[in-house]
Amino acid sequence: MIVSVRELAYRYPGATESVLRDLDFEIAEGEVFGFLGPNGSGKSTTQKLLTRILRGHQGRISVFGQDLETQGVAYHERIGVCFEIPNLYEKLTARENLDFYRRFYAGPCDPPEALLAELDLPEADRRPVGHYSKGMKMRVVLARSLVNRPKLWFLDEPTSGQDPEHAVRIRDLVRARADAGSTVFLTTHDMHLADTLCDRVGFLVDGRIASVGSPRELKLAHARRTVRVELRRGENLESQSFELDEPASKAAFLELLRSERVETIHTQEPSLEDVFLEVTGRRLLG
Ligand SMILES: Nc1ncnc2c1ncn2[C@@H]1O[C@H](COP(=O)(O)OP(=O)(O)OP(=O)(O)O)[C@@H](O)[C@H]1O
Ligand SMILES: [Mg+2]
Repeated sequence: MIVSVRELAYRYPGATESVLRDLDFEIAEGEVFGFLGPNGSGKSTTQKLLTRILRGHQGRISVFGQDLETQGVAYHERIGVCFEIPNLYEKLTARENLDFYRRFYAGPCDPPEALLAELDLPEADRRPVGHYSKGMKMRVVLARSLVNRPKLWFLDEPTSGQDPEHAVRIRDLVRARADAGSTVFLTTHDMHLADTLCDRVGFLVDGRIASVGSPRELKLAHARRTVRVELRRGENLESQSFELDEPASKAAFLELLRSERVETIHTQEPSLEDVFLEVTGRRLLG
């Protein structure tokens, strides 16, 4: 396991309540693991603890097979961090920002021009990033988080504020990095992104994992076996839904198959959002 978290608890200094309680999860090498959960559930806090932006947790965090507490500065050589709030040098260009950031690393770095191109930031753009739009700034932060070729990449809402084209580009970039062997730990409110990108997701609710698994496993586990039938009645096409686990509904479905002209039958797949609602009794915001 690249990341192993056991009985993690954390309370902000001065706060009366703990944000995280008894949090357990693991991330395997090359996996894209997604944290999903409502606003304030502790997703960013967990990522800040794992990247050592925050200190003072209880429980055990092990990364690259070693306790986080005993890792030296070399830890930062091996991780990439892309968090929500852009903290770029606003007077420098995107390229200058990446060049500047590269100097902090002793190990090999990727050339800025390749990273900028991957994130659709034209090198010819010589404006200071202070003049960039919010989405563009976030893409500079994304590019910056990759300069040191991280083995473990932390992304806090990587597609928030991106238009659909750039959100897809970022999704493909994350997938490609994972396929090339990097491990990714991301948070998102975008259920479609989580569904199409993550190998596994964990639902964080009130500082604990309420459910964890692959999107497919979770959807199947929470699927109510429902079929929707379209049938021809004279000129009209009608549609009806049936719950196969409810005897009366199932009987009605079988009767309909016998007696009516059925045109199509579809099983109803729940979305990850439906799973979230069932697991937590809440809707995701954002
Ligand atoms: N610096 C801080 N000091 C005190 N409390 C904080 C601080 N940062 C966050 N919190 C509190 O910790 C809780 C978890 O916040 P966190 O930012 O980890 O949530 P999140 O799951 O990332 O939410 P979101 O979906 O809005 O990004 C919230 O109740 C928040 O108010
Ligand atoms: Mg957050």
